[in-house]
Amino acid sequence: MGGSGQIIVIEREVERGAGIVARDPAMRALLKIVENVAKAPSTVLLQSESGAGKEVISRHIHNCSPRSSMEMVAINCAALPSSLLESELFGHERGAFSGAVDRHIGVFERAQGSTLLLDEVSEISPEMQAKLLRVLQERKMYRVGGRSEISLDIRVIATTNRDLREYVDQGEFRLDLYYRLNVFPIRIPALRERPDDVRPLMLHYSAKFADQFGSAIDGITEGALGRLESYPWPGNIRELVNVAERAAILAMGETVITEDHLVLDGDVAIAAQDPGFGQMLEDDDLVSFLPGSEPLTDVRRKIILGTLERFDGNRTRTAEALGVSLRTIRNKIRHYRARGIDVPDS
Ligand SMILES: Nc1ncnc2c1ncn2[C@@H]1O[C@H](COP(=O)(O)OP(=O)(O)OP(=O)(O)O)[C@@H](O)[C@H]1O
Ligand SMILES: [Mg+2]
Repeated sequence: MGGSGQIIVIEREVERGAGIVARDPAMRALLKIVENVAKAPSTVLLQSESGAGKEVISRHIHNCSPRSSMEMVAINCAALPSSLLESELFGHERGAFSGAVDRHIGVFERAQGSTLLLDEVSEISPEMQAKLLRVLQERKMYRVGGRSEISLDIRVIATTNRDLREYVDQGEFRLDLYYRLNVFPIRIPALRERPDDVRPLMLHYSAKFADQFGSAIDGITEGALGRLESYPWPGNIRELVNVAERAAILAMGETVITEDHLVLDGDVAIAAQDPGFGQMLEDDDLVSFLPGSEPLTDVRRKIILGTLERFDGNRTRTAEALGVSLRTIRNKIRHYRARGIDVPDS
């Protein structure tokens, strides 16, 4: 056998062991640097497109560091408004402000002796940038409303999806804070810049989802892998993980993943304009679109519930990702709930 129908074996045992996949020379070189910098206490600034692995690399730095026996502490700076972020970072004393009924220990203190991950650091307000700068300079802080100064022994890793230097040039980010963070900058390449990683990533995640769903998949065709290798991956590895999950769902009851089981986000967008995938999700009577032996309604339910879960129950993002209307998602949820099926809350 040869060509695009050739089947590449997925060895589940082997794939189960692989944690961080890095076969491409660009990624292997990066991992070497990462493992060196892990041993130093230096602040690291990780930049990449969304979904390219900043969190994975952050954890790897922590795990390879002398601080690995402690838990790494992470905070997403974009998730909180300025007022809440301050007390999340620094903690507060009881009575520091109305609503501060108890003392609260912030992430800086919780990360004592360990590593603090400041995720999406580009998104913090000018006011908080000033406060963060002070802590990074002095390695000392006060709790909000607190009087005693607390010394910190913390390794900081900051991440950003944005070009932080550009933010500085646009006056959105302080230059002095930029220099404090940019001690050891690491740029993680986008997935399309490391094509040799696509194949091992797909094998790894196909094995993982096959295990999780209890399905019998043990191979993937060369044609399917080729298709993935020529796709530009705007959503990077996070998108590939989704594609692997969809493939494992669509190939249920079969043993080999083929091109027919690949639903790439570009395809969904196209299908949404045309009848096809979008129509398949809308229309209960349409039974001809998807390959595989499962009843269409089961496949549809798995896709919708799986997507909801991925977006923490967010209906709007689920509808967007699947290229259907919000109304369709709401109708399906009502339908599932009426039948006693668990639906993730938003
Ligand atoms: N080298 C890798 N090997 C295996 N899986 C990876 C690798 N890098 C990333 N992933 C997986 O890809 C997904 C996205 O990775 P991660 O959350 O680290 O990206 P990110 O850059 O932090 O994304 P965002 O910018 O959206 O926060 C996760 O499911 C992660 O486990
Ligand atoms: Mg992240």
